[in-house]
Amino acid sequence: MRSRCSRRLILTSALSLALTSCLPDFPMEVKDATASPQAEEIDLPAPRLKGEMSLEETLAARRSVREFTEEELTLEEISQLLWAAQGITAAWGGRTAPSAGALYPLEVYVATADGLYHYVPQGHKAIVESRADLRGALWRAGLSQDAIHQAPAVFVITAVYARTEKKYGGRAERYVRLEAGHAAQNLLLQAVALGLGGVPIGAFYDEQVQSTLSLPSDHEPLYLAPIGHPR
Ligand SMILES: Cc1cc2nc3c(=O)[nH]c(=O)nc-3n(C[C@H](O)[C@H](O)[C@H](O)COP(=O)(O)O)c2cc1C
Repeated sequence: MRSRCSRRLILTSALSLALTSCLPDFPMEVKDATASPQAEEIDLPAPRLKGEMSLEETLAARRSVREFTEEELTLEEISQLLWAAQGITAAWGGRTAPSAGALYPLEVYVATADGLYHYVPQGHKAIVESRADLRGALWRAGLSQDAIHQAPAVFVITAVYARTEKKYGGRAERYVRLEAGHAAQNLLLQAVALGLGGVPIGAFYDEQVQSTLSLPSDHEPLYLAPIGHPR
């Protein structure tokens, strides 16, 4: 890995380091999703590593689903979906989705009837950000798309661009958006594998999503993903 990477560095010297740097940054310093002392945290159930569908079956079955039954998701399902999006799968901090320079700019939230939760990959936990049902406001911020209204859980993929910019400068915007795509696809495929369905939603008012969820100003929403039991 290291030698391939350095060979490529020589061959592509016209391109910046941003295009060729293949090694993760150590130590990992993703401090954003840590709870303040008074924040309520939930220990999520451990993700399972075996499912009932093969990857091929899951890929073949994936279709955007915009209509859902009223059945809530279980904590196990929410836990599994969060893990699929950004769970840690390596002792050094590597996650389910690739990340340029292993800088991990994504922060994932999920809004349910019970509140808003912020996923903490370290320790596989969630911080309770709100005990209010914010899905109605999120639906308005999402151009009143019915899928957001109907879904028992709306996942929100946000990004802290600065984490990637500090190494990749102007290239970071591209990298961060690509990463959001990776995480969203993981999430949507995991949904299918759990017998659920969802849709990636890019059409929404950024500022309205941010204010509705009271997100930190540097957590910029890139994707909404309503997920539930297909109707
Ligand atoms: C970047 C992106 C943004 C999207 N935004 C929306 C959206 O705002 N609303 C929606 O209903 N579907 C949205 N979709 C889903 C597409 O409409 C859907 O993937 C497409 O129709 C193909 O259908 P399939 O996902 O079932 O294969 C989006 C998909 C992508 C990749």
